Amino acid sequence: LEKLLVEINKLKCNLKETATNVVFSDGDYNSNIMIVGEAPGANEDLVGKPFIGDAGKLLDKMLNFIDLSRDNFYISNLVFWRPPGNRPPNDKEISVCIEATKKHIHIINPKLLIFVGSIAAKSLLDKKEGITKLRGEKHIYVDNTYGIKIPARAIFHPAYLMRNPIEKKTTWNDLIEIDDFIRRKRLIIS
Ligand code: URA
Repeated sequence: LEKLLVEINKLKCNLKETATNVVFSDGDYNSNIMIVGEAPGANEDLVGKPFIGDAGKLLDKMLNFIDLSRDNFYISNLVFWRPPGNRPPNDKEISVCIEATKKHIHIINPKLLIFVGSIAAKSLLDKKEGITKLRGEKHIYVDNTYGIKIPARAIFHPAYLMRNPIEKKTTWNDLIEIDDFIRRKRLIIS
């Protein structure tokens, strides 16, 4: 992981010009469960840790309902630097970061991937459909470079849920399915 972080710091990404910090990961790197978000926001950029602002607090709260916390999952983002003004990362920025994220997934080698939000889900599942379609479905993350296949789920981004609280109910159902999968496969080790 330290080697990967060195490689990430060498990536030629325009977002580095405006970002304060690289935002890499948090949680237990031995976990079977890896969560991948979109890109850091303002708080994450200042501190250098993923999902620590308002959206991150909501995500932690949602995951706590199914007994997940940063003691038993690992969390990162598709893009490692904050896009200015929290705009979504563009295709160029995603393409610069995605190979490192795939390597990140390969190193952690989780038994379940949870993609948070449309951009992470679409990019890493290589799908054209948006999150409204991808959530609630069972996916397999495939990486032919490393020869890995990992069960994957997609959920609405907590920032989206803060703007559209009506979707909290669907996300609750998605979390119950995820919890069921985690229990059946006995994925929580700590
Ligand atoms: N939103 C994300 O997708 N990732 C973060 O780290 C923070 C907010």
